[in-house]
Amino acid sequence: MSDSVSSLNDPSASGKPSATREQWSSRLVFVLAATGSAVGLGNIWKFPYITGEFGGGAFVLIYLMCIASIGIPIMMAEIMLGRRGRHDPVTTMKKLAKESGHSRSWGLLGWMGVIAGFLILSYYSVIASWAMAYVPRMAAGTFSGLDAQAVNSVFSSLVSSPESLIAWHTLFLFMTMSVVARGVRSGLEKAVTYLMPLLFVLLVVLIFYAMGTGHFWQGLSYLFNPDFSKISTEGILSAMGHAFFTLSLGMGAIMVYGSYLPDHTSIAKASISVALMDTLVALLAGMIIFPIVFANSLEPGAGPGLIFKTLPLAFGHMNYGTFFGTLFFVLLVFAAWTSSISLIEPAITWSMKTFQISRIRAAVTSGILVWFMGLFTVFSFNLASEFTISSAISTKYGEFVILKDATAFDFLDYLTSNIMLPLGGLMIAIYAGWLMNKMYSRDELNINRFWYFIWSVLVRYVAPVMVIIVFFNAMGVVAFVRSIMGV
Ligand code: PFF
Repeated sequence: MSDSVSSLNDPSASGKPSATREQWSSRLVFVLAATGSAVGLGNIWKFPYITGEFGGGAFVLIYLMCIASIGIPIMMAEIMLGRRGRHDPVTTMKKLAKESGHSRSWGLLGWMGVIAGFLILSYYSVIASWAMAYVPRMAAGTFSGLDAQAVNSVFSSLVSSPESLIAWHTLFLFMTMSVVARGVRSGLEKAVTYLMPLLFVLLVVLIFYAMGTGHFWQGLSYLFNPDFSKISTEGILSAMGHAFFTLSLGMGAIMVYGSYLPDHTSIAKASISVALMDTLVALLAGMIIFPIVFANSLEPGAGPGLIFKTLPLAFGHMNYGTFFGTLFFVLLVFAAWTSSISLIEPAITWSMKTFQISRIRAAVTSGILVWFMGLFTVFSFNLASEFTISSAISTKYGEFVILKDATAFDFLDYLTSNIMLPLGGLMIAIYAGWLMNKMYSRDELNINRFWYFIWSVLVRYVAPVMVIIVFFNAMGVVAFVRSIMGV
């Protein structure tokens, strides 16, 4: 994308904190890049499988509410902080805190983001490697005419082989790090301009296939007809955690992208466009997968393998399925690729500045660290699948389960999506809503009084209160207090 990035702007002209960095040339380019970060495995792989695990409609409704009331306002806040700071997340937070007369320990927020991105990438890369491993299988017609059981066993044999997972994981990380080493805005983002729309078209083609399964309405009703008896506290926590995960919020990735945003582009419009596109892709994925699940009497709660067990079934039975299937997994890899570069970007910008090293060096070092970390996830599905942890808080009022039989992968996913990202988002909301000088946030957001008021209420009250309640609830505190008070 180097040619679509305008050259540096003059920091002194804007009167704002230094802006001596490259910038996106327009809002559209930013929206594409941020959408590239947001749309990824989270939408197509994770959203359907956690929806299945937490029982469907009620989970989806809570997730949508979280996107609207927490996700969009926090995305605006995160982009705003990034643009004002124009640095890596740690430096940005320290600098902004100083500017508004607060403690420099706000840099810790940036730190947590760097670590979260690092941990997420370690397992993200392994899941992306499943998608990569499916490309040659699809192209070779492996799934043609297979029944559900046979498709299942293709998946099982893939994940039970540590060697092949490690090989694909290495390749995926290499792809990610080579883009990162050259700078986020060179090359790949241009590809996204074409590939994202293509992914979208392919999803629409698949919707037509899903309509022909005879179970389309059952799938829709599963997704959109809420049955609140099926939702648990853990489901609510996961819906909220997923809203952060899918929009790439709470860890500084969007903050770094925001730091390249030109001064006068509308943050509100950009945030809403990204959130809408992201949500649309997730819902389309759900509308494709669940009819296939029901048509083949599969289990919606099949876990992380869900799309790898359902979609090949569809491709194996449709006209030109080999072609469409191959294309689909190639596009999924691309979607994962554009997300993964944003996952590691905070760590890269931070380490370049802290250790005064080149981008290439930062990319190589973090690539090696992430690769090792990824082995935990690789082994979670084979050699170490029996090593699980369970954690619960037990009080005399009962036991509150936090993790049950969690593998290393489950633990990393829980820790990052359900704890670190919401916590990062909470701190962003508190900083932007309560501590940042209003003059600055007004100036950055540049929206009319009414919308500024709405944004302030969401970011000051609604988002923090919801995150805190969900957290406490998940830790059993709410149930605990209620049981003491007898309500
Ligand atoms: N939003 C990405 C997805 O849905 O696949 C995952 C992700 C990317 C999370 C970047 C966080 C992040 F900073």
